[in-house]
Amino acid sequence: MKNSGNGSSRMKILLTGGAGFIGAHLCKALLDAGNEVTVFDNLSAGKKENVDARAKLVIGDICKKEEIFAAAKGHYVIFHFAAEPSVLKSFTDPAATQRINVQGTQNTLDAAAKAGAKKFVFASTSAVYGEAKTIPTPESAPTLPISNYGASKLAGEKLGMLYAKEQGMDFLTIRYANIYGPLSNHGVMFDFYCKLKKNASALEILGDGKQAKSYLFISDAIDATLAAFSAAKSGFDVYNIGSSSQTDVDAIAKILCKELHLSSKLSHTGGKRGWEGDVPLMLLSQEKLCKSGWKEKVGMEEGIRQYVKWLSAQKI
Ligand SMILES: NC(=O)c1ccc[n+]([C@@H]2O[C@H](COP(=O)([O-])OP(=O)(O)OC[C@H]3O[C@@H](n4cnc5c(N)ncnc54)[C@H](O)[C@@H]3O)[C@@H](O)[C@H]2O)c1
Repeated sequence: MKNSGNGSSRMKILLTGGAGFIGAHLCKALLDAGNEVTVFDNLSAGKKENVDARAKLVIGDICKKEEIFAAAKGHYVIFHFAAEPSVLKSFTDPAATQRINVQGTQNTLDAAAKAGAKKFVFASTSAVYGEAKTIPTPESAPTLPISNYGASKLAGEKLGMLYAKEQGMDFLTIRYANIYGPLSNHGVMFDFYCKLKKNASALEILGDGKQAKSYLFISDAIDATLAAFSAAKSGFDVYNIGSSSQTDVDAIAKILCKELHLSSKLSHTGGKRGWEGDVPLMLLSQEKLCKSGWKEKVGMEEGIRQYVKWLSAQKI
């Protein structure tokens, strides 16, 4: 995809989910690079105050065709980050996950096509691989999701593939590993922090604590997103975005406790999965991404330190 996020040519961008965690950071980076950004978000999980004042905020729902169609008008590039991102909720309310992640993505693609947009970037997930046999997992690995969430994102990717072919729109899908950092209000670190706020003496860990996955700090994830956007080929393309190594859940709990100056007793619910649809081992190959010139900069300890500093300043 030409027209990078490096300010070389100003783009008019529609960013769905831009009031949420990754979207808000991405919005700022796209604005810093000299682009014009419209954020489209229904504020179901995101917050108005997350949105950079330089962006235009449109409050709307991707499930309502007329709202996303109106917002997409006049935009050349769409970054589609609005979603229901919870694996757990995809089992307790699969219809909502399907409506937001599949129908909402279809609506956003239709809106992009109607607006004559040329580029579409889709926030997908490592969950599309399911329990991958090859670790680190390359983009070419089979996609066999084990959660409704993973399946819904894979459906979004396939729809995008179709639009790339039929509508001549460039479609880039980004398969994020676990992304963490300031503004995030979900994920294992957030859950541990909330539990420790309630009871600092003990921390219950879901599963056996040995689940080992890739966690990437938000600033590295944003740099990687812009690098993938610059490097992506025309038509359909896919990039993994994750860290170079795995960290197990027990290690995360220990780093968090250390940063919070706590010596909490750790206990485990047992079993290799923390919850239904949990993928216990995950590490994405960085090979393709690193060819774009991107490098990981923030290590786990430093990243968790920055996240804890932000969490400690919030009313949680
Ligand atoms: N955070 C991660 O570790 C991670 C990992 C893999 C993939 N992703 C994907 O990246 C994207 C962003 O994730 P996040 O962690 O920032 O989540 P988030 O919940 O913080 O952000 C999602 C945003 O979408 C908005 N939204 C939800 N439903 C909407 C609807 N119907 N219409 C309009 N807006 C709606 C929410 O209000 C929120 O602001 C998602 O697509 C998610 O699936 C995230």
